[in-house]
Amino acid sequence: MDMIKEALPTTLDLYHLPLSSPNPIIRIADFGCSTGLTPIQAIETIVQCLLDLIKPIKEPRFRTLEFQAIFSDLPTNDFNTLFTNHLPVRRCYYAMAAPGSFHGRLLPTASLHFAYSSCALHWLSRVPQEILDKSSRAWNGERIYYVNSPAGVVGAYSAQFGRDMEMFLSARAEEMVSEGLIFMVVPGEPDLVHDSQTTLGSELELLGSCLVDMANEGIISKAKVESFNLPIYFPSEKELKQVISRNEFFHIERIQTLSHLKMHVAFPTPESRSLCLRVALEGLLCHHFGNELIIDDLFHRYSLKVAKSLFFLKPESHESISFSVVLKRKKSEENM
Ligand SMILES: C[S@@+](CC[C@H](N)C(=O)[O-])C[C@H]1O[C@@H](n2cnc3c(N)ncnc32)[C@H](O)[C@@H]1O
Repeated sequence: MDMIKEALPTTLDLYHLPLSSPNPIIRIADFGCSTGLTPIQAIETIVQCLLDLIKPIKEPRFRTLEFQAIFSDLPTNDFNTLFTNHLPVRRCYYAMAAPGSFHGRLLPTASLHFAYSSCALHWLSRVPQEILDKSSRAWNGERIYYVNSPAGVVGAYSAQFGRDMEMFLSARAEEMVSEGLIFMVVPGEPDLVHDSQTTLGSELELLGSCLVDMANEGIISKAKVESFNLPIYFPSEKELKQVISRNEFFHIERIQTLSHLKMHVAFPTPESRSLCLRVALEGLLCHHFGNELIIDDLFHRYSLKVAKSLFFLKPESHESISFSVVLKRKKSEENM
């Protein structure tokens, strides 16, 4: 939330923010909100910053301002849990849900003033198809992720991330008003650091090794493992900047390496680490392997391997970072 508190007052030109008349409404959306507390905190931080900015202004249109908060995620997201467990009864904004993929349009044209997305944009819209093709140089074999994969596989993942970010930004460009702001937290990897030296990369590689063990023991078929790949990509800062700069609708206001994700502090035991990954990937794995017993077995094996892994025993040997990015919607005439 520090990113919002620091960047919003300095990047927002409140007087030029297009507002409807006679009833001005500011709309704020969280894309990939999930079911936890973070989206509520983000919306409330943005609203509070705006209220602080508006307080000294005497202009009548700011006196009657109303706020609308839009919580968006895939239709399979448990919006009931989010609203039942976390949405405060007393709040100074109207809340609604917008189910659907953030890679496409979700809101009316030029209706949105602020967008927020945290730890969601690394999810790809699909696994790049060439990595599943045995005849392609980008075939990924029995690996489920791009750590230690041939360059063609990494390139295919990177290109898919580029296409997906382009779709995300183009959809938001249509939905957002001129000079509206996007705040994003994107998990990434440090420049010049190989994925096998990042915590998240190592975790996914280790999970893949458990699936290979299960295939070797005949518990699942080799073909099933070969056809499973994770639709996740962690960009470097350079790559993220390039992808955003290719888009003609947004200025980069700032991009910062946010923090090292302290997984070993948040999840101190192999079992809790295993559970954390299971929560994130269970849906995908069940859908592909189709049997909950296999998933129980998989994550039991995974916790045993985590206990012996370098990223667990020596967390300082692995890096994990995310980027905080603030973008401003260009005025329509700037796109020409
Ligand atoms: C790790 S959670 C992040 C939750 C929350 N934003 C936070 O920071 O705590 C990632 C969320 O992104 C959502 N997600 C992934 N792909 C998506 C897509 N294409 N469109 C909308 N939401 C997506 C997932 O459903 C999940 O709820």
